[in-house]
Amino acid sequence: MIDSQPAADLAGVHKLYGELWAEQNADFETEIAKPRHPRSPEVLFDYAAGLEVNVDSRVLDIGSRDAIHAIELVRRFGCQVVAADPVPLHAELARKRLADAGPEIAARIDLSDAAIEQLPFDDVSFDLVWSRDMLNHVALRPGLAECWRVLRPGAAMLVFQTFATPLMEPGESRRLYENHSIHAENMDQDHFEEVARSVSFVIETHDPITSEWREYAVEAGTTDIGDCLMTIARMRRAEQDLVATYGRALYEATIADHLWGIYLLLGKLSSSIYVLRKQVLTGAAHG
Ligand SMILES: C[S@@+](CC[C@H](N)C(=O)[O-])C[C@H]1O[C@@H](n2cnc3c(N)ncnc32)[C@H](O)[C@@H]1O
Repeated sequence: MIDSQPAADLAGVHKLYGELWAEQNADFETEIAKPRHPRSPEVLFDYAAGLEVNVDSRVLDIGSRDAIHAIELVRRFGCQVVAADPVPLHAELARKRLADAGPEIAARIDLSDAAIEQLPFDDVSFDLVWSRDMLNHVALRPGLAECWRVLRPGAAMLVFQTFATPLMEPGESRRLYENHSIHAENMDQDHFEEVARSVSFVIETHDPITSEWREYAVEAGTTDIGDCLMTIARMRRAEQDLVATYGRALYEATIADHLWGIYLLLGKLSSSIYVLRKQVLTGAAHG
């Protein structure tokens, strides 16, 4: 071996190749490959059960899309549900789902085209607001204020929502939000909590789901994350042609959709469940 002059700084390289990767640490490899028992979206129904939804409950499913969760709420709890979503296509899809669900279920669900910011419902007329994965799209303060208004005192709003973490870079977030019709400030968890309190909700529970639902989907085989990555790679290489044929908007929205799950697994996005309580006000005003 021909000795060289000591090079600038090889400490990091020696550490990496000479120590950390000197030989495979089988225990470590086994440990990091272990599934970590991620919870599934079922957990949201467990929360609803814990909030004592029953046949006498009136539930508002806000941002209900095709009413799939409204139907499941009726199946499980026998409650009455208003499924509200302002997108006309979603109303059409919901009507089809209700027809498939059968008359008994359908009779317990009313469809509405209401947006969260202006709910056409009476004060204190609901026992639960179910808000699953929709608050990123809305004007948060008026939306939460409306949910508070329509809840009866003591009732709760159950929220599943995803926020950005400090690992999200500004360029990544800008592109993601622009192409997913997201209000950037709603991706800030502190902002969400501040707004919830400002409209008089009490944050009763915060359950960090982080990447669990996505891990669950990958482990269950319902999401193929390798496929998502490969789709992005293929789309990037074919960008010019795809944009020319299908338009920039569809191209960017599709990339954003695939990135959503990847960012969750990378920890750039993180989901949470909240129980927001409309407190019962007690005590008379002092004169
Ligand atoms: C990501 S989807 C979630 C749908 C459903 N809640 C779920 O978890 O599968 C977001 C939904 O929010 C609805 N949405 C968007 N803006 C809304 C608003 N201002 N008020 C009510 N719903 C809204 C969309 O139409 C869409 O159905």
